[in-house]
Amino acid sequence: MNDVNLKADMLQAMRRLAKSVTIISTSNGAERFAMAATAVDSLSTEPPSLLICVNKTASPHAALATGAGFCVNILGVEQQELAHLCSGAIKGEARFGSGNWLTSAEGIPYLADAQSAILCRQDGHFSYGTHTVFIGRIVQIHTSAMITPLVYLDGSYTTTAKPTPSLAAAG
Ligand SMILES: Cc1cc2nc3c(=O)[nH]c(=O)nc-3n(C[C@H](O)[C@H](O)[C@H](O)COP(=O)(O)O)c2cc1C
Repeated sequence: MNDVNLKADMLQAMRRLAKSVTIISTSNGAERFAMAATAVDSLSTEPPSLLICVNKTASPHAALATGAGFCVNILGVEQQELAHLCSGAIKGEARFGSGNWLTSAEGIPYLADAQSAILCRQDGHFSYGTHTVFIGRIVQIHTSAMITPLVYLDGSYTTTAKPTPSLAAAG
């Protein structure tokens, strides 16, 4: 199979991979950046760490490439509009016009009304194709009581707030 077919098949396969929607936020000290992202995952609990995959053309990339820390803000289902704003609908500082944005002691913007805001210092990165993988060493976490995540599946926003019936019965 050639790469063109593989790319199309991969995109179809990924439509079946449900991902919680996050906003990655960072700063270069002078400007703030926020970008919707699903290519985010836990890396290890020892040490507490996660990884994010950022397109080299995306607005936060230059700041991240200089080693800036970042926050992974896990969105709630009611924050779909914020995801929309932070995925291209508007640009730059205007993305911080909605939501309760605060600034950490390290100068990183975080969304105080996110389901969880995971603040990281950067602990390495590597380039792969169109993207850079950034490793975040977690330094602080703000978590709300809610577990009603905004989920991206099959090209649309949805949520998975309730456990499945079999898990509910077992629990
Ligand atoms: C649901 C969703 C998930 C996304 N996930 C990622 C991601 O993990 N990495 C990435 O680089 N871009 C991702 N994007 C695209 C960026 O949000 C978007 O390209 C970026 O904000 C636009 O670039 P700009 O910040 O330069 O305007 C995603 C977009 C959407 C709608």
